[in-house]
Amino acid sequence: MSKTASYLTQTLTLNTGASIPIVGLGVFASRDPSVQAQATPWVLTALQAGYRHIDTAWIYGTEKPVGDAIKASGIPREQLFITTKLPWNHTQRVQWSIDQSLKNAGLDYFDLYLMHWPHSVHFDENEPRPRNPDGQLKLDDTVDFNHTWAEMEKALASGKVRAIGLSNFSIKTLEKLFTTAKVTPAMLQIELHPYLAQNDLLEYCRKKGILVTAYAPTGYSTVRDDPSVGQIAQKHGVTPTQVILSWHVARGAVVIPKSADAQRQIENSQLLTLDPEDTRVIDALDRNERVCNKPDEHGNVWAWSMDRLGWAS
Ligand SMILES: NC(=O)c1ccc[n+]([C@@H]2O[C@H](COP(=O)([O-])OP(=O)(O)OC[C@H]3O[C@@H](n4cnc5c(N)ncnc54)[C@H](OP(=O)(O)O)[C@@H]3O)[C@@H](O)[C@H]2O)c1
Repeated sequence: MSKTASYLTQTLTLNTGASIPIVGLGVFASRDPSVQAQATPWVLTALQAGYRHIDTAWIYGTEKPVGDAIKASGIPREQLFITTKLPWNHTQRVQWSIDQSLKNAGLDYFDLYLMHWPHSVHFDENEPRPRNPDGQLKLDDTVDFNHTWAEMEKALASGKVRAIGLSNFSIKTLEKLFTTAKVTPAMLQIELHPYLAQNDLLEYCRKKGILVTAYAPTGYSTVRDDPSVGQIAQKHGVTPTQVILSWHVARGAVVIPKSADAQRQIENSQLLTLDPEDTRVIDALDRNERVCNKPDEHGNVWAWSMDRLGWAS
């Protein structure tokens, strides 16, 4: 029987010198605003269980519930690591968007601010996912992510965000970013799990000094129910989720599992050291399969082709 240990106090160091807890709580709740508004109690149970790293985003509609939970917890701000993300429809108004997010959360600064997607989307105050008549996302290609990144670099200087990074970028889009970037991103947040190991991208980030956060880290029931993962879990007397999250942290990734359940929040923070043969079995599950942001029937992910995203295999 392997022993689990709490990873809630374990940290990694960003290229800014700041520490980030390896295990955080993901706070994507739902596209339904009434469900989003109900996130406060379960963010609070996570904080009470010892989580100090919270991952939210403007587009999740959970910045306010997160801020309310922080207030209710009484935990001093400096003990927390809070990440939020610039939505794709705010690429023309980055400083305004940061001020909105700070106001939503009732905070003075964010520890990490990510560009949520390389896309730029038409601004519509009431609709963050506006569509063209053909149903595709209404892109605004007058702005590119190099320009958005320059705006985020300015925000870093303002002190309102202490580190800046990216989400959903690839080696291809990172290479384009580096043609103009003055600041190396501190973090890349990507979909990552045993069915989508992204070894080349992890190696690229390691060489550049960019930490990686795994989103959809459990791989949902698709990966959690994989028989090989189940056998390893049984061998160690833990759950499949604990096996998967342990695999991530051994690879040096930060994980942000979302759970609204107090017991599962604790489960997701109690991880173990896998045996080398377990790691070999899990590594062999890689099949370049996305379970979260999958291509649609046109082969696009939010109106960008897999090639444009740099996600084509
Ligand atoms: N940057 C991006 O574009 C992006 C995209 C997706 C997600 N994210 C971030 O990453 C976070 C995590 O990703 P995610 O929420 O998509 O996926 P996830 O954390 O891998 O999975 C969440 C789902 O798994 C369930 N779950 C959690 N722990 C479990 C356990 N121990 N046993 C069984 N089921 C469990 C949750 O249900 P319960 O709540 O009922 O436990 C929920 O349905 C998000 O919350 C968000 O902060 C970022």
